[in-house]
Parts: sequence; structure tokens; C-alpha cells
Amino acid sequence: MSSQTLSSASIAELTKRIQNRQAKVGIIGLGYVGLPPALLYTEQKFTVTGFDIDERKISTLHQGGSYIYRIEASEIKQAREQGFDATSDYGRIKEMDAIIICVPTPLDERREPDLTYVETTAESIAPHLQKSQLVVLESTTYPGTTEELVLPILEKNGLRCPIARGPDAENIATDFYLAFSPEREDPGNKQFGLAQIPKVVGGINPPSGRAAAAIYTQVVSRVVPVSSTRAAEMAKLLENIFRCVNIALVNELKQLSLRMGIDIWEVIDAAATKPFGFMPFYPGPGLGGHCIPVDPFYLSWKAREYDFATRFIELAGEVNTAMPYHVVDAISEALNKKRKAMNGARLLVLGVAYKKDVDDLRESPSLKIMELLTDHGAHVDYNDPHFPQLHKMRHYDYSGKKSVPLDAKTLASYDCVVIATDHTSYDYASIVESAQLVVDTRNTTRRLLRHRDKIVLC
Ligand SMILES: NC(=O)c1ccc[n+]([C@@H]2O[C@H](COP(=O)([O-])OP(=O)(O)OC[C@H]3O[C@@H](n4cnc5c(N)ncnc54)[C@H](O)[C@@H]3O)[C@@H](O)[C@H]2O)c1
Repeated sequence: MSSQTLSSASIAELTKRIQNRQAKVGIIGLGYVGLPPALLYTEQKFTVTGFDIDERKISTLHQGGSYIYRIEASEIKQAREQGFDATSDYGRIKEMDAIIICVPTPLDERREPDLTYVETTAESIAPHLQKSQLVVLESTTYPGTTEELVLPILEKNGLRCPIARGPDAENIATDFYLAFSPEREDPGNKQFGLAQIPKVVGGINPPSGRAAAAIYTQVVSRVVPVSSTRAAEMAKLLENIFRCVNIALVNELKQLSLRMGIDIWEVIDAAATKPFGFMPFYPGPGLGGHCIPVDPFYLSWKAREYDFATRFIELAGEVNTAMPYHVVDAISEALNKKRKAMNGARLLVLGVAYKKDVDDLRESPSLKIMELLTDHGAHVDYNDPHFPQLHKMRHYDYSGKKSVPLDAKTLASYDCVVIATDHTSYDYASIVESAQLVVDTRNTTRRLLRHRDKIVLC
């Protein structure tokens, strides 16, 4: 067999194994992004093994439990019955046909990409990598990561996956397959489940792209092939930068509208009736979550290598970072109107999750707002149905802080209640009824007609 046909033959074999459900799928990183596909592939009758270094997660899964709010324990139990297993033993990578990497890609203390999780994962896979295995990176990252960081580590033990594109490389010989396919999950979005969200896929070479497409086609409605891993990496960043810049735009226009006495939410709703060329974005207390506040800076960092300044990203970052400060100023002004000082005020922040109905604190603006309020001398408590208590985090130490109950007496005991996260479980009418003063950062009280004099939008 010539080297030209080697990869075609092994792709055909891999595709057959995938179609017959003989292919074993390994998912590395069983967090918010990795656990849902592990369940989806199991549901689609694949034998799935999840890999994680967090032994608590492995043990919870072994006991049929869940550690992610929107995933029921019953779903884990059912998957376990269908063969889903979880392990911290990288030796089992050998058994896999397809390996999907979903490990974190945060920013470090200097707000630069921290790729140590991706690097460690690749190092852990490398000694066990087998011929014809497919490896796909799903973690969000800058264009070039799969080619420049993951590929050299995986090739350390002699197997090769040549970087190539174009018609001449359609059947290029490759020992293993390597691709990038961004995760596009929108936590809490019930309209689009994983299976409905098209999957962008780019391979290190065309056979790698086809191998990755072969597995995704089995579980999602549409696979969108692109010419390279770089294009797939950049596509994810474009999506998130688009959101980041547009959120910054409405956050800035909100501040102007407040000054001009215009209701920005009414304006957005009116503009959104335009049937073409407009997409609504909504202002808030600042950016949160793992993606939107973090991902754009992966590109700004990489752009410096090309002597290029990503000015939209920097400006959007500046506007969005200032939002928690804007909220604190608004609280201060609202207290002042009541002849009260911020220093010594008792404040209650509603919602510490970064967005409604999720159990995710990462980069939540509420945490920054609480820190700033405390720095100003206020006594700050919080309530969040998803977080009975807080703990020490990378940037904040809220260990020992517990969610206070939301009864009328407790609400009335605070000088001001700040709506930071608009969880649907909150009874906003009762909250406003009982509170002395409400600062609403999400306009979630918009439909309430009573006690408008107590509400300050910001
Ligand atoms: N959360 C989201 O909504 C979302 C959406 C789209 C993309 N992403 C991207 O997906 C990636 C993962 O994010 P997440 O939210 O699932 O993170 P997460 O922190 O919830 O989960 C990551 C998991 O990886 C595990 N892990 C870390 N190092 C490991 C290693 N060496 N080997 C095995 N497991 C390891 C951790 O223990 C953890 O369980 C990130 O790149 C993120 O940007 C996240």
C-alpha cells in the first residue's frame, strides 16, 4: 500500500468503527464543557471514558452523582448503566479511538493565555498515543495552538501528523489525526442543546479534518469543515469577540441613556423590531463567565507577535471592566439620595453567578462589585440559590460567606438590595415590596408597577 492511500484506508476503518459504534470515545476534562458531550456520545451508543485529574469528580460520577447544576444525577446514573466510565488513569488513552480535549484555558495573573492545562494534557496523552487515533482539541484558544503547541508534544514519540492543506494533501499519509473543533455551548440555553449546535471542524491536514467530521456527524445536526485548525480556532474567537464588543457598545450606550433620561432597554427592544441587520445585546453589571471576558485576550496576546494592536478588543475590555465601578457609583448615589453613606451601609447583593440560572461563578461581576463595596466600607451580604456558600477563589477570598435567606424581614434590614444576577427563581415583586431601596443592574424589575420610587436602574 502506498503512503498516499494509507490514511484513506485507516480513515475508512475509523469511520466504520464510528458508524458501527465500536469506536471508543475518550473525553478529557469533565467540567462544564466536557461532561455534556460525554453523556451525548453515551446516549448515541458509544463507549465513553471520561478522563479528569480531579478525583472528587471521578468519584462523584462513579457513585452516579452530578456536580453540575443543570445535569441531573439521574442522567449520570443512566449513562453509567450504558457503559460511561470515568478515570484519572491516562494509561487508558491507548484504548480510545477518538480523544476529545476539554480542559480549561484561563488567563494568568498578567492576563496572558495560560495554556498549562492544554500542555499538561498533551504531555499526558503523548506516551499512550496510538496509530490512527483521533485527537481533537475543543478548549478555546488563540489561532496556532493546535499546530504550535499540541502537535509537537503529540509527535514526541515518533508518530507524525503533517501540517498540510489543499487538494494535493487530500490523502496525505498521517500516523494519527489531529483537529480543532470549538465548543459552542451556551450554558442554561434550553433552545439549543449540544446536538442542535453546528460544529466547526478544522484538521491539521485534510484526513484529520475528515476523521473529526466523521465522529461529530454522529452526534450533531451539522458539521462545518474549515481548511485548518487555525481557521477553526479563529472562528471561535470571532464569535466571542463579536459578543464582547457588542456588549461593550450597549454598556456604553446604557450609561449615556441613563444620563439622558432614556430607557436603554426600551430602545433596544424597539431597535430589535428591525427585521434585518440588527441583533440585540443587553447591558449589565459587567462581563462574566469563562469565555467572553477571557477569550478575546487570547487573540490580543497572539496579535502582538504580528505587531498588530486589536483595538476593538482593548476598547471593549476597557468599557466592560469599568461596569462594576459604574454599579458601585450608582449604589453610592442612590444611598446618598436617601441621606445615607456607603461607608457603614448594609448591602445585599442578589446573584453571584455570572448569569442567570447557572451555577458558575467564574469572572462574575458580582464578585468584583462585592469587593468594591467592601472596600468602600459597606457591610456586604449576598443571596444566590445556586451558591449556599462561597469559598476562596483565584482573585477573591469569600471563604465563610453564606447566602442569606430572602424573607421579608431580612430584605428590609438592608439599606439597599442590588440585583446583580437576574435568576428566574427570584420573586422580584416581593423583593421590591420588602426592600428599602433596590438598585437593578439588569432591568429585571421592568414589569413591576408598584414601588417604582424604590427602584434605581443602573
Ligand atoms: N463553560 C463554557 O460555557 C464554555 C463554552 C465554550 C467553550 N469553553 C471552553 O471549554 C474549555 C473548558 O471549559 P470548562 O468550562 O469545561 O472548564 P471546567 O473548569 O468546568 O472543566 C475543566 C475540567 O478539566 C479538568 N482538567 C484540568 N486539567 C486536566 C488534565 N491535565 N487532565 C484531565 N483533566 C483536566 C478539570 O479538573 C476540570 O474538571 C475552556 O477552554 C473554555 O474556554 C467553555
